[in-house]
This record gives sequence, structure tokens and C-alpha cells, in this order.
Amino acid sequence: MLEPPESHVIHTDRRKERSVFKNFIGGEWMEGVAINRNINPSNLDDLVGEYARADEAQAQHAIDAAFDAQQTWQRSTAEERADAMDRIGTELLARREELGRLLSREEGKTLPEGIGEVTRAGRVFKFFSGEALRLGGERLPAIRAGVDVDVHREPEGVIGIITPWNFPIAIPAWKIAPALAYGNSVVFKPADLVPGSAWALAEIIVRAGKLPPGVFNLVMGAGSQVGNAMVKSPKVRAVTFTGSTGTGRRIGLDCMERGAKVQLEMGGKNPLVIVNDADLDVAVSVAINGSFYSTGQRCTGSSRLIVEDGIHDRFVAAMVEKLSALRIDDALQPGTDIGPVVSQDQLDQDLSYIESARSEGGRVVFGGDLLQRATAGHYLSPALITDTENAMRINREEVFGPVASVIRVRDYEEAVAVANDTVFGLSSGICTTSLKHATDFKRRSTAGMVMVNLPTAGVDYHAPFGGRKGSSYGPREQGSYAREFYTSVKTTYTLA
Ligand code: UN1
Repeated sequence: MLEPPESHVIHTDRRKERSVFKNFIGGEWMEGVAINRNINPSNLDDLVGEYARADEAQAQHAIDAAFDAQQTWQRSTAEERADAMDRIGTELLARREELGRLLSREEGKTLPEGIGEVTRAGRVFKFFSGEALRLGGERLPAIRAGVDVDVHREPEGVIGIITPWNFPIAIPAWKIAPALAYGNSVVFKPADLVPGSAWALAEIIVRAGKLPPGVFNLVMGAGSQVGNAMVKSPKVRAVTFTGSTGTGRRIGLDCMERGAKVQLEMGGKNPLVIVNDADLDVAVSVAINGSFYSTGQRCTGSSRLIVEDGIHDRFVAAMVEKLSALRIDDALQPGTDIGPVVSQDQLDQDLSYIESARSEGGRVVFGGDLLQRATAGHYLSPALITDTENAMRINREEVFGPVASVIRVRDYEEAVAVANDTVFGLSSGICTTSLKHATDFKRRSTAGMVMVNLPTAGVDYHAPFGGRKGSSYGPREQGSYAREFYTSVKTTYTLA
């Protein structure tokens, strides 16, 4: 286990046998008001660590510190910020194996997936190191004689960052890195289920980044306390959130009420269209990856497999064959293809959706069963459900687990109509060997990201990320597009 250094922990008994990872507020490692036990979903007897939980007053303290520190941080040079992001990225990449292991242990994605995610986080910091130096402005041609019109970008101020459990280090990285690179200060509240990766990331940011006190704050604690303080405080200029649709909508309304900027990344019900002319092997590997890797716990996961009649039976048979060969086991064990579900609550939700699909006439042709492994964990075999209609609950609501349903369609036209018939619009995909179908689908899909012969999940760190309709609200994340949320445009007029 990753042991916290002495000054960063609370010793909760005299013999110093038990240590708790602290929050980082206003430049100090601080105790909380309660303790969060971080349990390994692959082995419920394994305690990953104990983490401090802050209350609303401590969150307020962090917000005040961030507000004060931002006044000087915004005057730091772009080169100083670029160097800080670079040092953080370098350490993340150097420690990817160790941090990937911690991530997989607390979240349940496989070790290669965990290491891959840490690598992505490191790359994100490297990318925004460069972006800090590239943030330019423009001068517009004169309308009035002698009047210069200049447009440039400034930091927003304090950014409140609220992240989900399913990408414990990559999502925090792609929110924190642009926030800091563009001169904002940060109050970061990670999800309760994954404080380990968040703490490790925070410790690197603080030490390797060498940031002035108050510029970056880690505040682990409940959404109702810490999240609420950030959303309501007039000192927090912008809030970025990734998580459930219900929570996102509430945050959006609260921010709107006080005129704060807000960016929301919420659910998906992403379609993957398999056309008759698809390469069957490509279609199956794209579907298996998109629907079931990372235990299907991705908002970009392919949960609706929309399959044209002429390839339907061959596709389903090949999927079942491929699924039978996958190993569902301890996330850290070599050879595991799919790790456990993250928590008992999520497992209950997955099972109840499988049951709902059955009760509406869906046929579970593979999986959906609880599995026993060497250790007690939340193991669920990946579920493939055929004979579903797009109107069924299983095809309307986000499941967020290793569950995919198949919708049989007559032809390509019906496939496009069904793909777009959803309140969500995060990502979509098509498997086809025809340029005509690929081009047409890219034009007509109502999703923010469209993939051809690639999984709907697993995106690049330098490209804009985000959806349409009910999936997202506000400017895009990642790549240079991130500047829209993390900076504010100023237009100046000068008559010399
Ligand atoms: C990816 O598919 O590579 O929570 C990233 C999520 C998304 C991130 C997906 N915000 O699943």
C-alpha cells in the first residue's frame, strides 16, 4: 500500500498504527471531521486506506484560500505555469505502474487499464504545459480611426472541480491541468469511492508543482457539504462537474441562479450501429471493448448495439463466443479482462436494469450472473441482452455497468433513426466498410463524438470531449477547446 508521508496523515491512535490521508487546504495538510474507508471492490476484506472527510466549513476555508491565492497566481508567468504542469506530468508518467496499481485496486478496472489511465493523466499535464504558453489573443482591424481593438483571455478565478469515481485520475487531470495552466486556482472534490488516486494526484500536484499555498486545494468529503459549498459560494467563479444527470442538473440550476459559469458532463446511452457490410471481426471487437471494458463503467460506453437484420444473428453468435472467452476476475490479477463492479450500490443498479429488460421481453443471451472468485468482490458476468426495443427502459436510461442490449433493425435508415432517438448525445459509433455509410452517419449522428470502426469509448487527450442534448452542458473539455471554460474573454479598446 502507498503509505502517506508523516506530515500528510492524521494519527488516530497513540501507537500510530492507523493513519489517515488528509485534505490539503490553504497550503496545509488538514484533518477532516470524519473518515472515509476506501475498500477494494475485487476483495472486500482489503482496506486500501482511510481518508479524511471535510465538512462545509472546511470547504469554505479552502474556497477563501483559493480566492486569495488566485490574486497572485494569475500574475505568474506562462512559463512558470508551463514548468509546473510539466513537472507534474513527468512524475505521473514515471510512477504510472505504482499509481495504476492503486487506481485498479480502489476502482476495479484492470491493471493495464489503470496504468493506461495514469499515463493519460500524465500526458494531459504535458499537453497543458504547452497550452499555457500558446494562449494567444488577437487584434481586430480598426473601424474607428486610431482605435485599437484587442481580444485576450484571462483566468476565471476560482474553479470548483467535482469528479466521478469511474476515471479516478484522468478526469481530475483533464479538469485540474487546464484550470491551473491558465492561471486559475482550484478547489477539487473527488468522488467518495476513489479518494486514493485523488490523494496521490494531489500530493504530486502540490510537491512537484511547487504551487503557492492556496492555489490548489484537495477537499475530500460529501457532495452535500463540500460540493454544495463550492456550488453556492460567490467566490467560486466556475464549476466543472462530471457525474450523474440528476446531480449535474441540480448543480447547473444552482450555478445559473447566481450567475456562475458551469460545465456539465453527464450520462450517455451511446449507440453503436453495425451495418450489414461491417467486417464482423472488427464489429465484435469494437462492441466488446466499447460495451464491456472498464466493466462498462464509462459514460461513453456502447450500451445500445443497433444491428441490421442481415448481420444480426452472426453478430450475436460471435459476441457470445467472444464473451465466453473473457476472464472476469480480480482487477490486479494478470490475465483479467474485466474487473469487478465498483460498489454494491452500482451492482444492485446493474442487476435491476437486467431484470427490467427481462420483464419487458429482452432475452439475456449471455451473462448477468453474480460470480464467485477467490476473494469476495462485486463480480458480475458481462450481460448481452437481445430482442430489445428502443422504447424499453434498458434502452432509455444509463445503466453504467457491463450490460449491453441489442436492437435489431430492418435497414440502415432505421438504424440512424434509432441511434438518434435518445435524450442523450455523448458519443456514437458505426461499424461499416462502406465510405457512403460512414460519411452519412458522421453527418447525421446527433452525438458530440462519432466513431467509425472504433469503440464509442476511449478518446484521445488532445481532442475536444463532450456531448449534445442531455449529455453535456457548457463548453467542451480537453484539447485546446478547454480554454473556453477555463478562461474569460476580454475585449479592450484603445485610442492612443
Ligand atoms: C473515455 O471514454 O475515454 O465519465 C473517457 C466518463 C467520461 C470519460 C470517458 N466522462 O466515462
